[in-house]
Amino acid sequence: MIDSTAPRPRALRVAGVSRAFAGVKALTDVSLQFVPGQVFGLIGPNGAGKSTLVNIISGYDLPDSGTIELDGRDITRTKPYVRSRGALARTFQHGHLFNGLTVRENIVVTAMGVGKSRKLALARADELIADFGLESRADQPCSALPHGFERRVGVARALATDPAYILLDEPAAGLNEGEIGEFAANIRSLRDRGLGVLLIDHNVKLILEVCDRIHVLVEGKTLLEGTPAEVRGSEALVEAYLGRSGSVHR
Ligand SMILES: Nc1ncnc2c1ncn2[C@@H]1O[C@H](COP(=O)(O)OP(=O)(O)OP(=O)(O)O)[C@@H](O)[C@H]1O
Ligand SMILES: [Mg+2]
Repeated sequence: MIDSTAPRPRALRVAGVSRAFAGVKALTDVSLQFVPGQVFGLIGPNGAGKSTLVNIISGYDLPDSGTIELDGRDITRTKPYVRSRGALARTFQHGHLFNGLTVRENIVVTAMGVGKSRKLALARADELIADFGLESRADQPCSALPHGFERRVGVARALATDPAYILLDEPAAGLNEGEIGEFAANIRSLRDRGLGVLLIDHNVKLILEVCDRIHVLVEGKTLLEGTPAEVRGSEALVEAYLGRSGSVHR
């Protein structure tokens, strides 16, 4: 018998997920899980299926088979806006900011969208603007933002919903070396505050530095999963992901 008083296992679980697009197998039987207070890296070459998996976890797409569980609840078919209510937030690899609104307005509107009062939303926006170094651009429209700022606004906006889990699809693309250092500190502080973070990036150095575990996808299939030390030492990773002459420290 199921004990309904037992605490739910706290984790975001992907179990046996497959997805094909007109014959292209974007994901084949992928399983992984990450927990609050953990940074979970998801890496793989272009077209490996990373964004497809984020779309499925966040409810923007449905798997052909397999399930998504959030803290023990099956959310495979739950609408994205329901998942985002305090539980799950994501960023997008491309765009998706409200371009006609300023940076501050983007964050405020998103916070109000999950039920915060205008006053609380403004206060949360000020915090996030400071956390992500967005002060100089706070009152500019998002349409005019340099790429690196756009990505950081995407992360700040996702955090405005106060999620327990956040899915970051290449949030550091376009950041310069200095900005990447600050961004890595932001990610660590999310973990320290107890968020479960899924981080996708092609910058393997950043991934090895900030992740607790790393999952490697190649052509929609799991190649390996392990700690940064295990992944760094993996010949399979170097061969399959970067080519025989490649180095993971690019
Ligand atoms: N809506 C779609 N319709 C058709 N094919 C799609 C669709 N979305 C993804 N694909 C295909 O699925 C595969 C996985 O794509 P996906 O965008 O998930 O890869 P990715 O790992 O995020 O790549 P990148 O590193 O370039 O962002 C690719 O072959 C892609 O062309
Ligand atoms: Mg992608």
